[in-house]
Amino acid sequence: MQRIATLSLLVCFYLFTACNEKPEIIYSDYLPEEKALLDQYLNLPDDLDVYDPKFLYNMVNAGVVRPRLDRRKAVLGRVLFYDKNLSKDGTISCASCHKQELAFGDNKAVSAGVYGRTGERNALPLSAVVSFASQYGTDNNGTSALRFFWDNRSETAVSQIMASMSNPKEMDMHLDEIVAAVENQPFYSVLFEKAYGDPQVLPERVTEAIASFVNAMGSFQSRFDQGDSDNPSGYVETNFTNFTAAENRGKTVYLQNCATCHSSRMTQTALHNANNGLDAELTGDPGVGGITGISSDMGTFKVPTLRNIALSAPYMHDGRFQTLEQVVEHYNSGIQDHPNLSPALRTDAYGAPRRLNLTEAQKQDLVTFLYTLTDESMRTDRRFSNPFK
Ligand code: HEC
Ligand code: HEC
Repeated sequence: MQRIATLSLLVCFYLFTACNEKPEIIYSDYLPEEKALLDQYLNLPDDLDVYDPKFLYNMVNAGVVRPRLDRRKAVLGRVLFYDKNLSKDGTISCASCHKQELAFGDNKAVSAGVYGRTGERNALPLSAVVSFASQYGTDNNGTSALRFFWDNRSETAVSQIMASMSNPKEMDMHLDEIVAAVENQPFYSVLFEKAYGDPQVLPERVTEAIASFVNAMGSFQSRFDQGDSDNPSGYVETNFTNFTAAENRGKTVYLQNCATCHSSRMTQTALHNANNGLDAELTGDPGVGGITGISSDMGTFKVPTLRNIALSAPYMHDGRFQTLEQVVEHYNSGIQDHPNLSPALRTDAYGAPRRLNLTEAQKQDLVTFLYTLTDESMRTDRRFSNPFK
């Protein structure tokens, strides 16, 4: 009797609160005059976009933590990301080298920066930065956290963005020049006001806003993610029902030969950096060793994510391979005996390079599988597109 009383009391309580719940307020985030100003320059929706990356079940299960994002900062960051005025000659924005249709990578071995200057390395695609976001940066996860750039030289997205903007071969801007370029454009006062409560343009606000946008680029809607999420066994090794037989066979080849480094669910990579046998000797680019000075790091590079890999040719830090077939052939027959070649690519810890010797059919299956990692929704998502008119 007492239980029923408590129960009905509880029901009443819930009904009561339910009835008294405030109706969801739907309001425009901009005042009419603010929107009118923005509309002169930008294509932004009436309300601030929501930037929470969508996870399918498999990512939740794999423990990938969504970064905490402030949509107001991400909206501002989107505009800054596409703004060419943030470069010395007014021709280059982040998006010049990080193109949405290419999973925010570039299709050139080395990208062109201001005045047509070129750098030394292949632009890293950004659409999967969020899959590491929870592990990126010492501020979140201590010194063992994953880092940015091919040589892992940046600890946080903010320090990385600073580096990109000031790099003479990329945007070549000093902080005061960036602030001036932003202040020169009238619409930014509205966006800064929304993001920070006042219109003041500070360098740390600029970088924080861009970092919010970059960290929002979650690419988790690939056929691989769908198959993994729909898989009742929960084991990534089990055949996926949405895959063709060739894709499932390719998945097996991948899990047996590649996942030790690139991870089985394309999340945080198992190794932070490695040498994958591209050259027998140390070439001009020492990679991580150039930053740490440690001899076992010489010629090692960040293990990149393979999400959207079919979109981001050419491949490797120097963009030496044009196709995924060439990449697979490298692992199949081309591994070189570099002094720091990863033990994962040796017959045993100190043994000879382990070349995979796959059959033609297995190589094709592996390439077919790599195509399942493409997330088409990411390429066309309006929230990540160029907002300038
Ligand atoms: C001129 C071309 C160019 C421009 C402009 C450029 N980048 Fe890059 N970006 C690159 C290249 C090349 C790399 C890899 C460089 C390296 O690792 O040394 C890179 C790497 C990165 C990375 C590291 C990704 C990872 O997985 O480690 C991030 C994040 C990034 N860029 C964001 C930005 C942002 C934000 C901007 C604008 C403020 C920007 N980039 C402007 C070419 C460019
Ligand atoms: C020892 C760890 C390791 C193993 C095992 C490994 N990789 Fe890699 N992979 C790397 C590293 C490190 C790089 C970057 C190397 C560089 O650019 O210098 C890389 C780069 C790549 C790239 C180019 C990525 C880009 O954005 O340019 C692809 C594609 C790739 N690997 C696919 C594979 C496949 C497929 C297999 C299995 C046949 C495999 N990897 C096995 C460590 C590994």
